This record gives sequence, structure tokens and C-alpha cells, in this order.
Amino acid sequence: MPQQVQGVIAPGKNEPVRVETIIVPDPGPGEAVVKVQACGVCHTDLHYKQGGINDDFPFLLGHEAAGVVESVGEGVTDVEPGDFVILNWRAVCGRCRACLRGRPWYCFDTHNARQKMTLEDGTELSPALGIGAFAEKTLVAAGQCTKVDPVASPAVAGLLGCGVMAGIGAAINTGQVGRGDSVAVIGCGGVGDAAVVGARLAGAARIIAVDIDDRKLATAKKMGATHTVNSASTDPVEAIRELTGGFGADVVIEAVGRPETYEQAFYARDLAGTVVLVGVPTPEMKIELPLLDVFGRGGALKSSWYGDCLPSRDFPMLIDLHQQGRIDLGAFVTETIGLGDVEKAFARMHEGDVLRSVVRF
Ligand SMILES: NC(=O)c1ccc[n+]([C@@H]2O[C@H](COP(=O)([O-])OP(=O)(O)OC[C@H]3O[C@@H](n4cnc5c(N)ncnc54)[C@H](O)[C@@H]3O)[C@@H](O)[C@H]2O)c1
Ligand SMILES: [Zn+2]
Ligand SMILES: [Zn+2]
Repeated sequence: MPQQVQGVIAPGKNEPVRVETIIVPDPGPGEAVVKVQACGVCHTDLHYKQGGINDDFPFLLGHEAAGVVESVGEGVTDVEPGDFVILNWRAVCGRCRACLRGRPWYCFDTHNARQKMTLEDGTELSPALGIGAFAEKTLVAAGQCTKVDPVASPAVAGLLGCGVMAGIGAAINTGQVGRGDSVAVIGCGGVGDAAVVGARLAGAARIIAVDIDDRKLATAKKMGATHTVNSASTDPVEAIRELTGGFGADVVIEAVGRPETYEQAFYARDLAGTVVLVGVPTPEMKIELPLLDVFGRGGALKSSWYGDCLPSRDFPMLIDLHQQGRIDLGAFVTETIGLGDVEKAFARMHEGDVLRSVVRF
């Protein structure tokens, strides 16, 4: 029997989000219904609401979640009802050219549920990143459920489902930060701070946090930044060079998603250094760079989708490190809120008041 649950939808471009009744079908072959316990508010949800991702309104928002599998469809063997899982947006197919070459973190054909969740009048919903977890229950592909140790609190575990994994992975997987490296992180929200945590975990000697908000810089310092730069008042390229012997950082991670911050990242890295773009730009954004500088400075210009993570490999590992006290994922949770508070949480994110607001069910 399809179930009725409450969920948060973005009805149209820039319209306020609202709580609506959502119809969740029984899981079909390869699908699972998950009882969501916690779901973080990520900047990408705001991008969806603003029409910055695509125009497939209405969206069922929320994609940074943990919960318990309630039921599974035919043929599902990896998870079963009662399992504590983090939802991922990279259910790898195992058959595409990336998977077959042994690089499943690039999978080009990831799975989502085949059936649609709908509003009561039958309007089909587009779940954010194929998840849609600002809802009491959600329907996903079973491969989107990564089983982890239930010892972690859902609010903490859920963050690995997107922003925190994206940031840590941008440093350790995409940026390949190594012991002794200098790293700069531009934009210290949830994703940027996670990149700081990742850089520290990887053994970076110098971690320079850049933001336009002093409160964010104070938090970044607590997360492991060794130096901070307020780029509203100081030229970040100059400052990063000064802090790295005049050369620039080995790895610069851009966690804002804007042309001007990308350009800063490009020039703030050392020769042969690496830029990692983890911030998500909007469709109209463009960048112009002297091609000679692209060539002459060498190195690598990379983008990082989901921190190039492999959920089955990285989620349990990071939960272990958290349990051992080697990373503090709890520090990312600024506040827990109710389902009706998502619009307010967007405003607080916009004002820079929070790292992560997490909806608890
Ligand atoms: N690549 C991925 O897989 C992935 C995953 C999740 C989120 N994201 C993206 O990462 C970005 C950050 O997400 P978040 O949830 O941390 O957002 P957030 O709003 O919490 O953080 C953004 C931070 O950037 C700072 N900032 C804004 N303009 C700046 C500027 N000009 N210079 C320096 N700092 C500036 C803000 O003060 C804030 O601290 C977003 O674009 C989001 O869509 C990407
Ligand atoms: Zn694949
Ligand atoms: Zn996200």
C-alpha cells in the first residue's frame, strides 16, 4: 500500500518551500523505502529551490540523510528492513565504462528509484539528487542505502551523505592532499570546513581558511585551519602566497561555486599545484583565464563531485574515524530543526549563521 507522509517541496522557482503530503509507493524491484531519521540542509537544496540546478519543479528537497530501512523490493539483497543506513547519491551501476575500468567513484550511470513519489493529486516529484529526504519516508534505489554502524547518531551520520563527504573527499580523494602539503580552502561553510577536516586528516602542514565572514573563519580554525584570511578585507591570493613562502598553496579547494573565487583559487596555488572545484556553479556563470597561465602554471584543475567518494568504502571508514575521535563530525551540526523550519534554515544559511541545520524526525 502506498503511504502518505509529510515532506518539504520546492513548488517553483524562488517560491518558498512548504510541507505537503507526499505519496510514497511500495518499493519495486531494486528499491527500498527508508524511514528518515535526520536530514541536513545543504546549499545545493537552496540551489534547487532557486532553479539553479534545473527546472524540474516541484522538487522534493533534502539529500543529506540517515535512517532505517523500512521495506525492500524484489531482488534486494544488500540491505534489509531494520538496517541503519546513510543515503547516497552515487549508487554505482557496476557496468558503465567508468565502473568497468575500476573507477566506480566516477560511475556515469548511477541508480535512483524507478517509481516516482507524488503529491496527493498525482503530480510527480523530482527528488533532490534522487533522494528527497526532507520527508518522513523516502523511496530510493537500494544501492543508495549504505549500511553503517548504528552507534553514530543519525544527525551526524546523515551529513556524510553529501556536504561533509564532498568536502573531506575534495581534500583526500580529488585533491590527494599529502603529508606536509599546504592547503587553502576558499569558502568555509559545511563543505569548506569538511575540506579543512580532510586536509588535516591527510597530514597537511598548513591549512589556510578563506571566507568573507569572520564567524565562519572562527569555526574553520576550530576545525583545524592553521591560518585564516578574510577575503572581504584582504586580497586572498596575496595572503595565501604570503603564508606559503611567496609561492601559493599546493592544493586550493574552492567551496563557494563562483567565478571570482575560482579565479582566486587558480592564482593562489603554487606552480604545478592543484585546484579542486567543489562549489557548484549556476548555469549562467562563466570564467575567462589567459590560456597561457593555464598552460604555464601547470598542475591540475579538477572538479570534485561528491568528493570522488565511493560510499561503500568511505562512509563506514569515516564513521569509524569519528567514533575513534579522529574527526569530529558532531561539530558540523549547528542546530536541529523540525520539518517546517527548512525555509528558515535557508535564511540562516544565507546569513551565515549556521554550518548545518539538521531536520530531525
Ligand atoms: N561538489 C559536490 O559534490 C557538492 C556537494 C555539496 C555541496 N556542494 C556545493 O558546495 C558549495 C558550498 O556548500 P555549503 O553547504 O558549504 O554552503 P554554505 O552556504 O554553508 O557555505 C558557503 C560559504 O562560502 C562563503 N562565501 C560566500 N561568498 C564567498 C566569497 N566570495 N569568498 C569567500 N567565501 C565566500 C560563505 O560565507 C559561506 O561560509 C555550494 O555551492 C554547494 O552547492 C557541492
Ligand atoms: Zn557505473
Ligand atoms: Zn548536498
